[in-house]
Amino acid sequence: MRDFIRIDDVTREEMERVFHLAHDMEVMREMGSDLCKGRILATLFYEPSTRTRLSFESAMFRLGGNVLGFADPQATSFAKAETLADTIQMVCNYADILVIRHFWAGAAKVAAQQSRVPVINAGDDGNQHPTQTLTDLYTLWKTGRDLSSITVGVCGDLRFGRAAHSLVYGLATFGINIVLIAPPGLDLPPEEAWRLEHVYGADVTCVEEPGEVIGDLDALYVNRLQKERLPKELDPAEVQQIASRYRIDAELIRRAKSDCLVLHPLPRVDELARELDSDPRATYFEQSSNGVPIRMALMAMLMGRVDRPGFAGQGRDVEERAEHVCHAETCVTQHEPRLPVLTETVDGPSEKHACHYCGRFVAAP
Ligand code: NCD
Repeated sequence: MRDFIRIDDVTREEMERVFHLAHDMEVMREMGSDLCKGRILATLFYEPSTRTRLSFESAMFRLGGNVLGFADPQATSFAKAETLADTIQMVCNYADILVIRHFWAGAAKVAAQQSRVPVINAGDDGNQHPTQTLTDLYTLWKTGRDLSSITVGVCGDLRFGRAAHSLVYGLATFGINIVLIAPPGLDLPPEEAWRLEHVYGADVTCVEEPGEVIGDLDALYVNRLQKERLPKELDPAEVQQIASRYRIDAELIRRAKSDCLVLHPLPRVDELARELDSDPRATYFEQSSNGVPIRMALMAMLMGRVDRPGFAGQGRDVEERAEHVCHAETCVTQHEPRLPVLTETVDGPSEKHACHYCGRFVAAP
């Protein structure tokens, strides 16, 4: 597999291989390298980004390569109604690897289908953010703890946050005990909850407030409210009120273990108090820094620049089933013309089918 689109496309061993490689890259990050000399990364950012885009660009420069791309789709032929497929068809002539962030769920999958060079998903709507998860897990892995015996609380907007959606699968892959901490209405979507239970057999506990479990956690992963993804029928002020129930501050963290890591994909808004920044348990800035060696490792591996095997791929059963049209509003199938209707069967006690692009469950009419 040449692309990296979903965290559940890779195994634990494959992730650990990336972590070891990232560890080696920490030296190259300091000293510089020409591992990717003459190679070009294209960053195609249809949605806002600070850390993800800049850390990918920094990673490619540290590897001795070059970068081109855009951060405003309105300044591209997207504004002239060019299809995603056509854009990718062309951009892959200009670069050796593509990184895409898009406001349509499944857009990275479509890009990978079109591209002749590797494609990395840097976030597709509320669906997945797999390179963030590698960064998050690398941050835990670097502590040297036995990951299969730790408990991680994933707190906040678990409904609309793609970082959380990828993370829970990553945690489950490592056999980490998961505590989902979300107020009612912001809990994990049924698809993710179903896969955690039936595909991963994960050990999951659900609570509504961090105070209920703070003393049990080895890491607390905080997510902001994804205001920009709230559907029209929800009142933003009301949801904000609900979200204020999970504000993380010094008073709460006083009750946490002395070595509990506080993580956050960033940006933070007001769910994570600034007073925590000076607490030695606050690991979020280090976590964002870890995104550079992780992305160096991933790109070097996918471009075949290192002497280690790439990802094998999970070999899912994908079927074309005309009756299983996906109706998710932000799914790429609702916006990009001429996509085949592709679904995957999901394990569990009853037959479930998921859209191959956005992962949402689909049912025949
Ligand atoms: C996350 C994202 O874009 O999904 N940010 C990031 O990439 N570090 C999380 C967020 O925006 O809340």
